[in-house]
Amino acid sequence: MASDRYIDFANSDIGRRLVGAVGLPAPVRLERWQAGRLRPVEGALLLSAGPLAERVSGFAPRMTDLMFTLGDGITGAHPWSAEHGAKIKVVVFDASMLLRTAQLNQLREFFQPVLRQLEHSAHIVILSRAPDTLADPVAASAQQAIEGFSRSLAKEMRNGGTVQLLQVDEGAEDQLEGALRFFLSPKSAFITGQVIRLSPCAATVQDWSRPLAGRKALVTGAARGIGAAIAETLARDGAEVALVDVPQAKSDLEALAARLGGQAIVLDICAPDAATQLIGQISGGVDIVVHNAGITRDKTLANMTADLWDSVLNVNLEAPQVLTQALIDAGLVHDNGSVVLMASISGLAGNRGQTNYTTSKAGLIGLARAMAPALKARGISINAVAPGFIETSMTAHMPFALREAGRRMSSLGQGGLPQDVAEAVAWLSQPGSGAVSGQVLRVCGQSIIGA
Ligand SMILES: NC(=O)c1ccc[n+]([C@@H]2O[C@H](COP(=O)([O-])OP(=O)(O)OC[C@H]3O[C@@H](n4cnc5c(N)ncnc54)[C@H](O)[C@@H]3O)[C@@H](O)[C@H]2O)c1
Repeated sequence: MASDRYIDFANSDIGRRLVGAVGLPAPVRLERWQAGRLRPVEGALLLSAGPLAERVSGFAPRMTDLMFTLGDGITGAHPWSAEHGAKIKVVVFDASMLLRTAQLNQLREFFQPVLRQLEHSAHIVILSRAPDTLADPVAASAQQAIEGFSRSLAKEMRNGGTVQLLQVDEGAEDQLEGALRFFLSPKSAFITGQVIRLSPCAATVQDWSRPLAGRKALVTGAARGIGAAIAETLARDGAEVALVDVPQAKSDLEALAARLGGQAIVLDICAPDAATQLIGQISGGVDIVVHNAGITRDKTLANMTADLWDSVLNVNLEAPQVLTQALIDAGLVHDNGSVVLMASISGLAGNRGQTNYTTSKAGLIGLARAMAPALKARGISINAVAPGFIETSMTAHMPFALREAGRRMSSLGQGGLPQDVAEAVAWLSQPGSGAVSGQVLRVCGQSIIGA
């Protein structure tokens, strides 16, 4: 994995002075989830008033001991003011009642005094309603307006702070805890400026310390990089793991599987009998399928050979299509299961020299959207995760200038770590993940690519 020496420099004593004086980007070291940590929030939660905020106050004491509010609208919350209040680690603002243009000024009034009182790596979540659920055009427009606000606020955050917008459907309020445990914690360190919709879902997590206990996960491309981090994270959260990779990666795969107490399945996912082999190896079925295996074979279209095109389309798109359908047809994906497809922000934005890769990644996003409605009846979710620049051997091989641009051209001014992608996959793999389906979650630090 490449190391980001600039971030070390920018955070050294001399570097900090120099970077400030010359006006260079000053990325901070993001706070990430550490093994053994118990609570999602270590610090003060500031909650606004509102019906969704009231729901949050019901479970917030399980996330933190310090709950504050402005005014006296929230049961159990202490009053807070910018002049006399504690520093704030996380903020939940209920914007669901902002249904008129004039009411949007509440966004400015609420956030302005709070911004100077935020701790390092603070997390903000704004709650709203999906505009398409509102019949009144002015109300729908006001709720849509909040999206613009939240994305801009994400770009203005300092010190590693993040902002997300959660659109909560009627009846999905009981899924807020799982989403906030993710988006208010360091697990979402490299996600910012995103919009995610929560729909009603019957399943919920039983034990927040091991949210994946009792679930079995299949992860492809698990021998190294992002796939290995996903395997580790799913196992940390209690899942039993079955790990797939090609014969060349057999020893790494077996070592990781042994360490995690899981199963190693040596298999080329493009082999003609891949589906039959896989079905033979996971006879009891699985709850979580993560299609992470992926390759790049970059060339501009003018120089793209059929081989380069086909190999990327086969591994990245056709294999996930074929294997997902085969596992479902064989009844091997359990009810309330989760399928996660590893896309990429270049699949959303396009990228020079990557027509094959971006075609395959956009195809995965299409697959998630297309399969979600039919799988919903069984509580199975299917989503795409779109990483931005992640520090792996894939990106270590990029030319220097491209690599630097990939790292800095985002709101957080740095690349993400495999763990950041893995945490997003783990969240989407929880029971209750049926609340989020057919969606794309970018893990990109709000990269300007395709933003
Ligand atoms: N690294 C990034 O910045 C980045 C950004 C966006 C998306 N992604 C995506 O994330 C995923 C993982 O990326 P990574 O950086 O960890 O890559 P990587 O090359 O380090 O790991 C990919 C793994 O997939 C395995 N694999 C490849 N072909 C396979 C096949 N036919 N059958 C079984 N296994 C196969 C490889 O052996 C390898 O272990 C890929 O889908 C990639 O496109 C990565």
